Amino acid sequence: MRESRRDRQPKTDAHLRAAPVVPVHNPPPPPVVSGSDSAPRRGRGPGVVLGCAPPTEGVPMTAAALQVSELTVGYGPVQALEGVDLEVPEGAVVAVLGGNGAGKTTLMRAVSRTLGFHGGAIRGGSVTFGGRRLDRLPPDKVVAAGVVQVPEGRRVFARMTVADNLRAGGLGARGGRRSAAAALTRVHELFPVLRERAGQPAGLLSGGEQQMLALGRALMGGPRLLLLDEPSLGLAPLMAERIAEAVREINAQGTSVLLVEQNAALALGVAVAAVVLEVGRVTLSGTAAELKGSDEVRHRYLGVVDETAAADAEQAVDASVPALTRWVP
Ligand SMILES: Nc1ncnc2c1ncn2[C@@H]1O[C@H](COP(=O)(O)OP(=O)(O)OP(=O)(O)O)[C@@H](O)[C@H]1O
Ligand SMILES: [Mg+2]
Repeated sequence: MRESRRDRQPKTDAHLRAAPVVPVHNPPPPPVVSGSDSAPRRGRGPGVVLGCAPPTEGVPMTAAALQVSELTVGYGPVQALEGVDLEVPEGAVVAVLGGNGAGKTTLMRAVSRTLGFHGGAIRGGSVTFGGRRLDRLPPDKVVAAGVVQVPEGRRVFARMTVADNLRAGGLGARGGRRSAAAALTRVHELFPVLRERAGQPAGLLSGGEQQMLALGRALMGGPRLLLLDEPSLGLAPLMAERIAEAVREINAQGTSVLLVEQNAALALGVAVAAVVLEVGRVTLSGTAAELKGSDEVRHRYLGVVDETAAADAEQAVDASVPALTRWVP
């Protein structure tokens, strides 16, 4: 008897168990997975299974920046998230992978407290940032706490100039003029094109440049945690890689990042850990290296083809398609 596809799958995804969540200090050291034997964990649990090398002497361990626990969200009768657990350690990039409608944007909205603008509401669980509950704050207080979202589709103010878009991002930021000027310098260093195009309407920028502007606008608020919703969406591979590089740079300068992506290869190249969302639930979680090695992630999100399975599928199609007779008018 032929071995079924399921039987042939490597056992890497199979023997998964919970492990304690250990926070990472800034910048994140190479993660060490405790208790999971280099395999991602399946299903819900205490969040990303992420450990780290022992701290250097004198460097204090910091608490998780963002902690999402048992989060359940709905839009009227639609249940979009159910019991989602996720953790972004201080100074880390954590990715959320998943297909269309998995609930990635909903998770972002729940953290930034913008769910209400979309007719959604948190029905259970909690969101804390630096130990403080976010799920009881209005959106402006979430921004003031240092959590800034870059929405899906950039949403730059198309008719306003590039400079005014950046200025808008700095409104309400603490620190006065001097820190606003420092933030602008930092944004221009990261994306020189935004200085060159400062006087032009943002709507004239290319998709990639608009993504840079959206990132720059968020950075003007001096965020401690950036929520990035599909920053590579619709961009050519080179521009997507340029954006990924910018995210690495932003993180290297000390900002934690929650990165939502359908482009799993890009996300796992930037993140230290990731979760996979499917129909509102976390189905896999682990370090980026574990997820890259996961058979399921490779086939479903990294486009790696299981050749034997593809041959099986082809055979099945061949067998089920009836031969057509020639059509004569
Ligand atoms: N404003 C809304 N009102 C009602 N249902 C919504 C609303 N926004 C999202 N949903 C539903 O919630 C679920 C999760 O949607 P969400 O936009 O969070 O998914 P996503 O993972 O971001 O998808 P995509 O990759 O297409 O952006 C889907 O079933 C979607 O139809
Ligand atoms: Mg989305």
